[in-house]
Amino acid sequence: MDERKIVLSEKEMPSVWYNILPDLPEQLPLPLNPKTGKPVEPEILLRIFPQALLQQEMSAEQWIEIPQEVKNVYSMWRPTPLHRAIDLEKYLKTPARIYFKNESVSPPGSHKPNTAVAQAYYNKKEGVKRLCTETGAGQWGSALAFACNIFGLECVVYMVKVSYQQKPYRRVLIQTWDATIYPSPSENTNYGRKLLKENPDNPGSLGIAISEAIEDTINSNNTKYSLGSVLNHVLLHQTIVGLETQRQLELIGEKPDVLIGCVGGGSNFAGLVLPFVRDKLKGKIDVDVIGVEPTACPTMTKGPYRYDYGDTSGMTPLLKMLTLGHDFIPPGIHAGGLRYHGLAPIMSLLIDKKIVDARAVPQTKAFEAAVMFAQTEGFLPAPETSHAIRVVIEEAKKCAETGEEKCIVFNFSGHGHFDLSSYDAYISGKLQDYEYPEEKIRESLEKLPKIE
Ligand SMILES: Cc1ncc(COP(=O)(O)O)c(C=O)c1O
Repeated sequence: MDERKIVLSEKEMPSVWYNILPDLPEQLPLPLNPKTGKPVEPEILLRIFPQALLQQEMSAEQWIEIPQEVKNVYSMWRPTPLHRAIDLEKYLKTPARIYFKNESVSPPGSHKPNTAVAQAYYNKKEGVKRLCTETGAGQWGSALAFACNIFGLECVVYMVKVSYQQKPYRRVLIQTWDATIYPSPSENTNYGRKLLKENPDNPGSLGIAISEAIEDTINSNNTKYSLGSVLNHVLLHQTIVGLETQRQLELIGEKPDVLIGCVGGGSNFAGLVLPFVRDKLKGKIDVDVIGVEPTACPTMTKGPYRYDYGDTSGMTPLLKMLTLGHDFIPPGIHAGGLRYHGLAPIMSLLIDKKIVDARAVPQTKAFEAAVMFAQTEGFLPAPETSHAIRVVIEEAKKCAETGEEKCIVFNFSGHGHFDLSSYDAYISGKLQDYEYPEEKIRESLEKLPKIE
């Protein structure tokens, strides 16, 4: 019988993270100070991040040791299983072999604690008392609340208002892990108050919530800011996903032909694929690497590669990335974690160099795929994850037509147990797709800072 689950023991958990920076085909463009257009001064970044994470952000080391304290927490759920989706394969009558890395088994239910635990650890070590952050779907906020609770840090979460309303139980989970949570835009910051005055029904966006969390950080004592995606150190921490997957595939003599992940800021996708991209760059493997985004927020497939702010109010340094413009507010789709205007600079460079590909999927097609997955494999995917599953199914169907026996591996980035209202909307036929918001994106792109 084919193995259905490939499991590593705790002893086999990787002891290092993989840093792709020294292996990239060219140097990653540096973050810039928007006022001077020159590389941003480390003092500015040190106001919001601890030193250890800033060092990782720019490190030239290929391998970075995972501290024992972080590994101890990881061992609560890591290594995560790699599953073979045998029943989905049968249902699709495909000769492809489909595997999924199950990151939904963490206590908060997604890949997010891989970096939350590391970030809370380094902040604690440097004497920080309080962490501020934003959250879209609530997965990141609950991961940071969980990690802060373990290391005894206070945690404040600004949650995008539309998700706060769609997912009340994520709020309860965040509060259970003892964090404070505000719907964003909130009355708690100058920026939030300004936006609410302009439009009391502002649905919020990740960019706005980031602005609020940074403003809170800058105006508070002993507080640092924590980001759940996009930055190099976040992607670094997520590489444990791909490193484990490599070992698991080796155990069964498999090599991936296609790697797939959903993309918000790019961290779960990067975590799975970067160790394989290393082999691809060296010519050791030939693999298609596909990131999947919502058509309502098409950063990878429609965004230009430009310098832009990471947040909406323009408080962060400028990052060179694929972007839809920092003040683009995506429609309120149910995959809240994919509503981000930009993309991790590392993944943006890899897409620009055509080493990594991208596709966009409408949310009703993503939910159709999610339901097919739940009815064959049992697990209920997060709406974000469902975008990846849609493309997995498309690829597997192509194999059914061509007879190719491809090995398709994807990241099952999170479960959808808190997303049942979205499933309800889909099942009762109320879920709608949004037109590609061309006009709004064009307006927003016109406001990009004039730096090439
Ligand atoms: C389950 C899940 N998958 C994917 C994402 C997208 O984020 P990223 O692109 O950083 O992995 C999120 C973000 O909240 C998420 O909750």
